[in-house]
Amino acid sequence: MTDQAALASNLETGVSQLRCIACGAVGEEGAKSVRCAQCGDLLEVDFPGWKTSAGMRAAGLDAAGLKKLWLQRRISWNPLDESGVWRFREILPALQDWKYVITLREGNTPVYELPSCGRAAGVKQLFAKHQGMNPTGSFKDTGMTAAASFARQGGFRWVACASTGNTSASMAAYAARAGMRSLVLIPQGQITWGKLSQALDYGAVTCQLKTDFDGCMRVLDEVVQRMPVYLLNSVNPYRVEGQKTVAVELMERFDWQPPDHIIVPGGNLGNSSAIGKALLEMKHLGLITRLPKLSVIQAAGANALVRTMRETGGKGLISVHAETMATAIKIGSPASWKKAVRVIAGTGGTVEQVSEVEMALAKAEIGADGIGCEPASAVTLAGLKKLVKQGFVKNNESVVLILTGNLLKDPDFTLKFHRGDLFAGTEHEEEAAEVLAPRQRAPMVLDASANAVVKVLEYAEQTDPRK
Ligand code: F0G
Repeated sequence: MTDQAALASNLETGVSQLRCIACGAVGEEGAKSVRCAQCGDLLEVDFPGWKTSAGMRAAGLDAAGLKKLWLQRRISWNPLDESGVWRFREILPALQDWKYVITLREGNTPVYELPSCGRAAGVKQLFAKHQGMNPTGSFKDTGMTAAASFARQGGFRWVACASTGNTSASMAAYAARAGMRSLVLIPQGQITWGKLSQALDYGAVTCQLKTDFDGCMRVLDEVVQRMPVYLLNSVNPYRVEGQKTVAVELMERFDWQPPDHIIVPGGNLGNSSAIGKALLEMKHLGLITRLPKLSVIQAAGANALVRTMRETGGKGLISVHAETMATAIKIGSPASWKKAVRVIAGTGGTVEQVSEVEMALAKAEIGADGIGCEPASAVTLAGLKKLVKQGFVKNNESVVLILTGNLLKDPDFTLKFHRGDLFAGTEHEEEAAEVLAPRQRAPMVLDASANAVVKVLEYAEQTDPRK
C-alpha cells in the first residue's frame, strides 16, 4: 500500500472520538484537557465505526487483511512501518497528517523464553516481553510516540508530566525530537539517577518537588489549568492508545494464538488499562478468538489497586501512602484505577501483591536468566509464583510477563542487592539474608595477580550450583 493509500485507509478506520469513562460524554478530539468537561473523570479513545460489523466492513477492518499488511510492513524502511506502534496504525486514532509523527522506532521489543524462572514459578511455558528494550529503556515510549505526536499536531510548545522517572525520560526525548519544550515534575530523592540523567540530557526543565509522586500529580494538574502546557501522563488517552500495541505485537508474535495469562506490574495503572483495552478490541475485531487473562501485581507497600479490589470489589479507590524500593511504582493513588478494574474484570484476570524481599529475589532470578529488568518489572515473576500456588495459574498454562524497564535504569538497587546492603537496617534484614544470599554475587577486590584470579575461578567452579 502506498503512503497515500495507507493514510486514506487509516483516516477511515482510525476515526475516533474522546469519550468519558464515567458519564459517557463525548469530548472534543485533540482538546487540551485530558479530562471530561462534564464530570472531570478520564477520557478514552473510542472508535464509533467499530460498533457494528457493517461499520467495520465499511472501515476496511478485515482481520486477515490487517494481519498480512502489518507483517508486510516489517520489511519496509518507512519510519512509520519501522515503529512497532505506527505499524499498527489502522487500530490507532488517526493524525491529520503523518508528518506529525515523532518516532524513535519504539516497540518491536523481543519476547524471550525464561526456562529457569519458569521452573522457579512452577509453570512450563514462561515468556517475557521486554519493554525495557525500547529507545529510552522503558515501556513508556510506545505511548509517548502517540501522545507526543498529538501534542505536536495540536501545536503545543510545552508538554509536561509528573513522573517516577521513566515517563519523564521518555517524554523529554520525544519532545526534544520535535523541538517542543518539556517540563518534568519528580518527587525529590525518589527517582533513580539513570532516569533523572535522561531527562536532563534530553533538555527537560526538571523540578524536584518536596513531595511524593501523588503530590507531583496534584501540582501538575493545577499547572496545566494555568499554563498552555499539554499533559503527557498516562491519563492522556493517546498514551493509552500507543501502549495498546504492546499487546498487538505480542499476539502477532504468537501467530495470533494468545497465551493463557499476561502479567503486568501496576503503578498508575495506565499500562494495564492499555493492554486490557487492546485485548478486548482485538477480540472484538476478530484478530484473536479468545482472551488471555490480564493480572496486575503491585508492591505490598503500594497496593492501592489490590486493596480497592479486595475491600470494595473495585467500586471505590482506596488510596495508600506508598512505600517501596521499586520507585517506579511508588504510587498511592493510581489515576487509571477505574480503567484497570474494568479490563481485569473483562479478561478474567486478578490482582496480587508481593513483598520487597519477594520482588528482590525475582529480579535476581530474571537477571540470572540473562535478561535483567528494573525492580518494578520483577514484581511480575514474584506475583506469578503466588498465582501458581493459589491455583489461579495452572502448571500447564502459558504465561507472559511484561518487563517494563531496563536493568540499567536502576543499577543502585542491583549493586546493593549483590553487596548484601539492600535490606540492611530494615525490618526485612533477617529474612533477606536467608532468602537472598544464594543469589548474591558481590564484586571482589583482589591484588593485580593472575594467581589471585585463578584461585577465585577454581573456587567458583567447585561451588557451581548448576553442577
Ligand atoms: N514499571 C515501570 C518500570 C514503570 O516506570 C512504571 C510506571 C510501571 C511499571 C507502572 O506502570 O503506571 O502504567 O501502572 N512509571 C510511571 C512513571 C508512573 O512516571 O515513569 P503504570
